[in-house]
Amino acid sequence: MNVGEAIVTRRSVRDYQEKPVPDEVLVDILETAKWAPSPVNSQPWRFIVIRDREILTRVMAHAKYGSHLSEVPMAIAVIATDVETFHWFNEIEENKYAAAVVATSIMLAAWEKGVGTGWVSVDRKEINDILDVPREYTVVAVIAMGYPVRVEPHSDADRRPLDMMVFSGKYGERFPRIDEEWVEEHMKK
Ligand SMILES: Cc1cc2nc3c(=O)[nH]c(=O)nc-3n(C[C@H](O)[C@H](O)[C@H](O)COP(=O)(O)O)c2cc1C
Repeated sequence: MNVGEAIVTRRSVRDYQEKPVPDEVLVDILETAKWAPSPVNSQPWRFIVIRDREILTRVMAHAKYGSHLSEVPMAIAVIATDVETFHWFNEIEENKYAAAVVATSIMLAAWEKGVGTGWVSVDRKEINDILDVPREYTVVAVIAMGYPVRVEPHSDADRRPLDMMVFSGKYGERFPRIDEEWVEEHMKK
């Protein structure tokens, strides 16, 4: 599977087989994912591998759209720590964006190995204590992980056409290749 295939075919998985993800596979996924970029190569992230159902259930209590979390075989919490020495990056919260970037790498590296994932949004205020994460750090992502029960491919309708997302030079300025008729129909409403 090449990178493009992994990006396009990845689905968010909410229904997992009971079969656990072996530690060797998990380590392989994280070894790949850790090559994500970060400010001054600070790698301001830590991962917590959660297999304990009781902890998963406690996290679930703070996930409005994550009722499946107590049933998943495991999850990985991605924590944004600090960019050391170049503190300006923390002031502009770049450490958190870097953690989101590495979370994406985890999802794609897992997919390439046949392992499904699904980002579960949590009320961040509530999660640090459950996971013993120091108050000054942020749990950026909770990613459910396991072997999917089924995988349904995306349909074209699952993403907006590129034309709706791309501007040229400044926000709102039409990208030259956009078809006039399409703009009439969609953008001028
Ligand atoms: C920041 C973020 C938060 C998300 N939160 C949730 C969530 O709380 N519960 C959930 O089931 N899926 C969540 N998702 C997954 C999205 O629902 C999913 O990515 C989207 O519907 C597109 O489907 P696909 O990932 O299968 O292409 C989240 C995804 C992202 C990137």
